[in-house]
Amino acid sequence: MTQSPEIDLFSSAAKANPYPSYTLVRSSDPVYPLNMEDGHTSWLITRYEDALAILKDQRFIKDFRRLLTPEQREKIREDAYSALSAHMLSADPPDHTRLRALVNISFTPRLVEQWRERIQVLANELIDAIERQEDREFDLIDAFAFPLPIVVITEMLGVPTEDRARFREWSNALLDATGKPEAILGTREKIIAFTMYLRHLIETKRQQLGDDLIGRLLVAEANGDTLNETELISMIFLLLIAGHETTVNLIGNGMLALLQYPEQKQLLQENPLLIKNAIEEFLRFHSPVAISTRRWVGEDLEFGGKQMRRGDPVLVSLAAANHDPEAFAQPDELDITRQENRHLAFGMGIHYCLGAPLARLEGQIAIRTLLQRLPNMRLAVPAEELVWRPSMLLLGVSKLPVAF
Ligand code: HEM
Repeated sequence: MTQSPEIDLFSSAAKANPYPSYTLVRSSDPVYPLNMEDGHTSWLITRYEDALAILKDQRFIKDFRRLLTPEQREKIREDAYSALSAHMLSADPPDHTRLRALVNISFTPRLVEQWRERIQVLANELIDAIERQEDREFDLIDAFAFPLPIVVITEMLGVPTEDRARFREWSNALLDATGKPEAILGTREKIIAFTMYLRHLIETKRQQLGDDLIGRLLVAEANGDTLNETELISMIFLLLIAGHETTVNLIGNGMLALLQYPEQKQLLQENPLLIKNAIEEFLRFHSPVAISTRRWVGEDLEFGGKQMRRGDPVLVSLAAANHDPEAFAQPDELDITRQENRHLAFGMGIHYCLGAPLARLEGQIAIRTLLQRLPNMRLAVPAEELVWRPSMLLLGVSKLPVAF
């Protein structure tokens, strides 16, 4: 076996173009023992077939408490973080099945379709505001890609939209700290503030049940043992964070890809019906969730020629899988007309993204509207100067300065 390079999952330079190093690792050591900052080794998965197999294999578990002794479990119950982590993405069946069933219905393509008009109105309002400014330069993330999905998910949940700057601060801090133990310690205060905010919100909403997602969850909570309060808080936390952090990157990365490949931009402008296909290609090309959330090996097993031990952490690189030449022709090229595109940007298996229909709809409306209304948009800085967020999980720029 040839020597594998060290993989950098954090720095802005590595995030701007992680694909060459993924290519090296994929061909030399596709189930790669990656040394993490906390001293542990995580298995990093870079081949498409391996990624698919692990995401669908329930021997790779999400609820790490199953690996602990009763005494260890008791200790973590006191932990600030556990108040927000009793959600479906940290659960295995049967808890996962129960929690997901409570919200599944609200995110089906049919129900999400009812939000189309509202999303279009919001997209237009945001562009109206951009056009009203004297400055012909603006940050696409701040002015458009962030506010659109956060307003949609807060309205769906029934959370006051004016609090969105606070969620952004809290959730950015949490997500940018993933994989970095010291940074995680520094987020404790933010976790506590977020939890208190959610507790207070639930109390207020209990007084007057609204016809929104939180209202429906409160009814479920009151109706029996389907949902306890910690699970309710964790559910709202997950939906708020998953509902906007990722879609921001779909819009940002998608527009960035078009600005970097003007012939693809022109093709889409001349053929607006390609938008659905284009969104799938943006999801594959710069996958907004670069690495899946952590899984643990639930029992000793062999995978890809490696002996894995119970409790080993596993990271599936969706970005690497989505650039695997065994699964995609010319994977490093952006092709909005690509037909064979079974990308893993929304994961796979039981944790397949609940919000995929909503994210797709938001992405399609957002990018189509931007191209229609600001057709001559261009990057206001060289692409090499863009700063990519340091989050291990997410792939997206902090700011996207553009001019029109
Ligand atoms: C482009 C936007 C989005 C991308 C790329 C994305 C990606 C993903 C991925 C990769 C997973 C699986 C993670 C894993 O298995 O480790 C996931 C799960 C999830 N996503 Fe999304 N997501 C997006 C938007 C949304 C939206 C808008 C919502 C809003 C409700 C949402 C809610 C969730 C939830 C609740 C889960 C956990 C599902 C489960 O554990 O069963 N996501 N997402």
